[in-house]
Amino acid sequence: MTTSSPETGSTETACRNAELFARAQAVLPGGVSSPVRAFRAVGGTPLFVREAKGATFVDENGTRYLDFVQSWGPLILGHAHPEILSAVQDAASRGLTFGAPHTGEVELAERIARQYPGIDRVRFTSSGTEATMSALRLARGATGRDRILKFSGCYHGHSDGLLVAAGSGAITLGEPSSAGVPADVARLTSVLPLDDEAALDAYFTAHGDETAAVILEPIPANNGLLLQRPEWLRHLHELAARHGVVTIWDEVISGFRVGLGGAAAVYGITPDLVTFGKIVGGGMPCGAFAGAARLFDRLAPLGPVYQAGTLSGNPIAMAAGNRTLQILERDGVHDQLEALGDRLERGARAMIDAHPDWRVAFVRQGSLFWFAFGDRTVPRTDSAIAADAAALYRRFFAACLREQVYLAPSAYEVGFLSAAHGDADVDRAIAVFERALAETFSA
Ligand SMILES: Cc1ncc(COP(=O)(O)O)c(C=O)c1O
Repeated sequence: MTTSSPETGSTETACRNAELFARAQAVLPGGVSSPVRAFRAVGGTPLFVREAKGATFVDENGTRYLDFVQSWGPLILGHAHPEILSAVQDAASRGLTFGAPHTGEVELAERIARQYPGIDRVRFTSSGTEATMSALRLARGATGRDRILKFSGCYHGHSDGLLVAAGSGAITLGEPSSAGVPADVARLTSVLPLDDEAALDAYFTAHGDETAAVILEPIPANNGLLLQRPEWLRHLHELAARHGVVTIWDEVISGFRVGLGGAAAVYGITPDLVTFGKIVGGGMPCGAFAGAARLFDRLAPLGPVYQAGTLSGNPIAMAAGNRTLQILERDGVHDQLEALGDRLERGARAMIDAHPDWRVAFVRQGSLFWFAFGDRTVPRTDSAIAADAAALYRRFFAACLREQVYLAPSAYEVGFLSAAHGDADVDRAIAVFERALAETFSA
């Protein structure tokens, strides 16, 4: 077999991805370590990444792709940033894990508390899932209440109490959205639509005083990019405060991505608890939940709410996170990303405006972007996303991939810009998107 050149991207004879995928499926469920990577939603063979640098990666076929997934969000500075690599290598040379306190975790907690409003205390975890799960436990421990509220169209990781969908009927008990989640656990979670004040009013009137916490992505970015009206966010915040419900903002994606102060700074609202992941670990496994001392005084070892982790505050993850946040603070990276995002948005809007027959809309918040297929209106709720969005996206995705532009292998995942993307990358992407959209809507 010949290997194609990474620079030309020719894939004439290469089939290494297919070979590896066959091997993977014999030993990894579905061939992957996390489901969306399997390309089920778009068809075809997942790309096995050999190496990555900046805005691109090279797959095992030897083809180089312009990457708008960036490991699903942690890599705001791009792949293999030299300063992050050197921080990681330096930390690794002093030990991989201590299971004891160390300076790096104090520094990272201080940085997070300095940038995000309302934070006195930070507890580190090894994933975003652990962060949201633990934040809920803390809220339940602090309020003595069991019920929680979440929203359809938000994702908070895969703990049992959060893999829940709305049951039938208004304000009903939740139902498991995954096999293996006990119905008795799901019943403690209520699920409401986003963007609906009346649904909030009805819920809080009926259940506000028995609800421990409301959890939401203030910038929902896991079911498309469902930007919310500030008035809706404020209404929810006020209702929760009135009923003594702990507000948890899940900023695992938006934290340090939409700005140093996350969605809290964007909307001028300070949640009681916030969860982080992705960027705070600089590409290493890491999560965190944070908030006011009055809540964290209830957390072990200070209080009765138990939470722990062998690798929590891992020195390599802390080093990567510290260096990432340091660079974000030092280099004005968010201004650069806003300019890049604006360039992409102007290009996307111009091509969409020029083609009234294309059923697609473009939405962006900073360096997060999404093509909403099937309609020319940007949806605010998951139920407003067109039924044929996935089918249209499948064609769009394949056309982009053929031109070595890598988007998330699902219609419902957002795109990520990084500081390693330049104007030329964005201009190339715009040209590729235009050809791919023309192909999508000519079929
Ligand atoms: C908003 C949000 N919360 C929680 C999680 C779970 O984080 P992890 O995959 O690190 O467990 C994710 C993952 O994508 C997320 O986007």
